[in-house]
Amino acid sequence: MPFPGSVGSLLRLLRERRWNALGATLSRGTFPAALFRWNVMFIFRLAGRVVLPERDRPQLRVRWGDSRDEGALQRIRPRAGGYEGNFARGHRLVIGEVEGLPVACVWLELGPVHVSRPNAYSFAIPRDGVWLYGTEIVPAFRGRGLFRLLYHGTLGLLAEIDRTRIYSAVERENVVALRANDAIGACRLWEYRVLRLAGLTWHDARPLAPGVGRRHMGVGKWSGADATACAAEAVDQLPVTR
Ligand SMILES: CC(C)(COP(=O)(O)OP(=O)(O)OC[C@H]1O[C@@H](n2cnc3c(N)ncnc32)[C@H](O)[C@@H]1OP(=O)(O)O)[C@@H](O)C(=O)NCCC(=O)NCCS
Repeated sequence: MPFPGSVGSLLRLLRERRWNALGATLSRGTFPAALFRWNVMFIFRLAGRVVLPERDRPQLRVRWGDSRDEGALQRIRPRAGGYEGNFARGHRLVIGEVEGLPVACVWLELGPVHVSRPNAYSFAIPRDGVWLYGTEIVPAFRGRGLFRLLYHGTLGLLAEIDRTRIYSAVERENVVALRANDAIGACRLWEYRVLRLAGLTWHDARPLAPGVGRRHMGVGKWSGADATACAAEAVDQLPVTR
């Protein structure tokens, strides 16, 4: 089976006419990640405040979600296996609602390390940070400025648990997500390229912001961090994932 478990996502990308993402998913799905994968992505940091427009602001209520939101999640982003696994791993859910209707979500990992097995890297999450993934706004509500409200609200919720920085990765093909992150003032920290071929991995991680760390290029997996937020010795002690 070339695309185990991902036929639904392919159909969704097709329906939403996201040609770049579809092309990337198809080329990746042809082989298992360790056999062949070529990917380029940017790692962002969002800290401080997201400024909201003064006038004509769309309404979005942002709240913590939990396992009772499985139905809402299935409407926002249908997933055959459900989302129980995310909760079991201790990941936190944020839901965005318009007039009581759940239309958006993000997932948050609290650390201490985010691991991407297919892309062969790990990233140290500082004590005051989170790793964000799985941002989704239902198609009918896209392009209306909700992204800014969703991240503004997420930062507000994070303040309740003493977290002030959001880290996330966006693939180079996802031009809308890149644009959306740039527009709210998220900072591009790293550009990460990975090539996996017949079990061998090569990576190139280039710093894009001052002080985040030195360029790493070479064979094997990358252990990344934001050196402006982690003490260098703490980064060295992080588990290297295999
Ligand atoms: C990416 C996504 C979350 C953006 O949310 P959104 O509510 O549609 O975005 P917004 O309307 O708030 O727009 C944010 C920025 O992107 C730009 N943008 C929105 N749609 C765009 C499009 N189709 N083409 C180009 N730019 C676009 C907006 O102009 C805005 O930039 P600006 O403030 O400089 O004008 C949403 O499109 C989505 O859920 N996509 C599918 C899942 C996904 O890709 N998630 C991200 C994974 S990292």
